[in-house]
Amino acid sequence: MGLLIKNATIVNADKIGEKPQDILCQDGKIIKISPSINAGSHEVVDAKGKKVLPGLIDIHVHLRQPGHEDKETIETGSMAAVKGGFTTIMCMPNTHPVIDNPMSVEYIIREAKRVGLCNVYPMGAITKAQKDEELTDMAELKSAGCMAFSDDGKAVLNSRLFRLAMEYAKMLDVLIIEHCQDPLLTAGGVMNEGAVSTRIGLKGDPGIAETVTVARDIEIAHYLNSKVHLAHMSLKRSCELIRFAKSQGVKVTAEACPHHFALTDEACASFDTSTKVNPPLRGQEDVEAIKKAIADGTIDCIVSDHAPHTKEDKEVGFDDAPFGLIGLETSLGLTIKELVKPGIIDLTKMVDKMSTAPARIVGLKSKGIIKEGFDADLTIIDENKEWTVSQAGFVSRSKNSPFIGWKLRGQVEYTICGGKVVYKV
Ligand code: DOR
Ligand code: ZN
Repeated sequence: MGLLIKNATIVNADKIGEKPQDILCQDGKIIKISPSINAGSHEVVDAKGKKVLPGLIDIHVHLRQPGHEDKETIETGSMAAVKGGFTTIMCMPNTHPVIDNPMSVEYIIREAKRVGLCNVYPMGAITKAQKDEELTDMAELKSAGCMAFSDDGKAVLNSRLFRLAMEYAKMLDVLIIEHCQDPLLTAGGVMNEGAVSTRIGLKGDPGIAETVTVARDIEIAHYLNSKVHLAHMSLKRSCELIRFAKSQGVKVTAEACPHHFALTDEACASFDTSTKVNPPLRGQEDVEAIKKAIADGTIDCIVSDHAPHTKEDKEVGFDDAPFGLIGLETSLGLTIKELVKPGIIDLTKMVDKMSTAPARIVGLKSKGIIKEGFDADLTIIDENKEWTVSQAGFVSRSKNSPFIGWKLRGQVEYTICGGKVVYKV
């Protein structure tokens, strides 16, 4: 017995299907797509009037396990993922202890399998304990299951180490994801440096902390002819540097987060600590530039940078709160509201940014496209339905969202992973 999706309007990155199709999933794969498939003994999901997308993929998520299970676990993070329409997530290694050894990688894979809701791919650290002193054994970590490596939470400041990491990554055909922020320039800033930080009296983090790292990484990638993926780009200037690098053939890819195109640094004037995030919320010009860069392909994909923190962690003064906000459950709704509805991108481009491109960037060859033979990971949405973000509605263990009370567009109706319904509204 398989799972049969009836009357599916299929949205792939290259086109929206003209006529509804039936999609038959069996043994974890899409085995047949045709205008009418007999239901037989299959479980049936009716997608009439809805859009069926390749399962959404978020390659930048923090799950906090091991070490901070009070903030999030692999189980609660997976629940948040499938509620947000994600069938695949990649989790960052800045846990306690840091994911820098094969045992930790295997632990995450095992626990994610036990939970059994979505695909969870752990990333390995670039440097041991993310101390920026010594490289991890990337070959060993790749064998354990890592496809990508990052010291996210901070940059690899040691340029020589970063160069070596890029060389190993090229040899091993894995991806380096860089958190671009030079802490010597950030110098204790807690929000974007600019007119708002001056007005409200919070210490500013200047944009150059991001752009000098972007420029360095692009230069190293150019020199080595290696790939580099730049995390959570937040600035107009970063987009300009990436656009130029791409025009020169540098193998650079980049991501942006919904909070960086939905909010400006004015949001910090509320002193709501859920607006404290790294890199910080920027100015209006940057927001516009990020949107443009998503539309023109400078920014390849959209990620949430889901960064859960407890109420206790965040219920302190702005200066003392940790950086980060949750995003798995609001990422799709914010993208539809801020980018699709205003016509900045259409649904096919959204599918590219939230499924097809991330699959390609990290090398998930059987994901990101609805096609016979591909994995049966699907997200069924009503892109017009409005819903209101509420604290009680979050299934993530943490609730640190600046979007509580916002009306978003686009309701996830079903999330299907490996041919199994893992979420239903
Ligand atoms: O705001 C952030 N929070 N940015 C990061 O890069 C790390 C993350 C976290 O781990 O909390
Ligand atoms: Zn992050």
